[in-house]
Amino acid sequence: TDGSGAAAGRIVLADPRGFCAGVDRAILTVQTILRSAGAVRGDGLPPVYVRRQIVHNRHVVEELAAQGAVFVEELAEVPDEAVAAGVPVVFSAHGVSPEVKAEAERRGMHVVDATCPLVSKVHREVLRFVREGYEIVYIGHRGHDEAVGVVGEAPGHVHLIEHESDVELLDFPPTTRLVLLTQTTLSVDETAGTIAALKRRFPWLQMPPSSDICYATSNRQAAVKLVAEQSDCVVVVGSANSSNSVRLMEVAQEGLAGRGRAWRVDDASELERGWFEGVSTVGVSSGASVPDELVRGVVDALRGFGFTEVSTVGTVKENMHFVLPAELRQRASARG
Ligand code: F3S
Repeated sequence: TDGSGAAAGRIVLADPRGFCAGVDRAILTVQTILRSAGAVRGDGLPPVYVRRQIVHNRHVVEELAAQGAVFVEELAEVPDEAVAAGVPVVFSAHGVSPEVKAEAERRGMHVVDATCPLVSKVHREVLRFVREGYEIVYIGHRGHDEAVGVVGEAPGHVHLIEHESDVELLDFPPTTRLVLLTQTTLSVDETAGTIAALKRRFPWLQMPPSSDICYATSNRQAAVKLVAEQSDCVVVVGSANSSNSVRLMEVAQEGLAGRGRAWRVDDASELERGWFEGVSTVGVSSGASVPDELVRGVVDALRGFGFTEVSTVGTVKENMHFVLPAELRQRASARG
């Protein structure tokens, strides 16, 4: 609405949003190493190597890199000299396959494993079920770091599918013991559809002991859905390679029910004024790997566009917390 007496636009913030316990722990892991190494390294080597993006957020990675962390895609990029000097190598929150662990061990690397405990849980389930003679149907995103790590636990026994339409590609005789496991950051609703299709085709398929979609994923999706239902447009802060952030955008799009669009941005600089024409309420949320300062930046920019009333829609209060990786706790206590 234009002209006199135009109402101020509203922002509705989703709660919970942003950092989950696994991301918090992974970032703190790298920061802790940086802090303890910073002053003592005089040999020209970096204080820490991190295999892959520690969490899938561009800003987080750039900030840690600016503090001295060196990010590599593969362990082969870590020079022998650094391994010999004991420079720690951190595994990202998404986990690694046993192959990567074996390579690190073979080279005598000082590994600090920041794999989220909820991802490690799925790795352990794979091993247990395969030991018990099961084949595993795994719903995940092909090529995503987490899926690569999980499938790597038992190649040939973990059958990855991405969508409901992939179910028909699977074929198991009824004598095959089958169990379902999933990536932690899937869409709860979309996964329910895929599971229903799986159960129609393989009625004997067993469900996992507890859902592998983690608490943070399901809480953020529930909150953004509620927010979207009250909005004409939703902005999700998160990087394009962040599975849970992209899922949040999709869930928001559903919740908008055709009233408007859900957008994903890395930060405020990507917002376009034109997106908000005719919009009176903007919903805002952020992925599990996103620092809240980026959300504050988006809120500030939206204020500049005339969305001056800010409220929060909350669902559940989270109080999940994970202790730092064992390798760090040992180091800390060894140093007294
Ligand atoms: Fe872990 Fe879930 Fe976060 S698996 S890293 S708590 S999104």
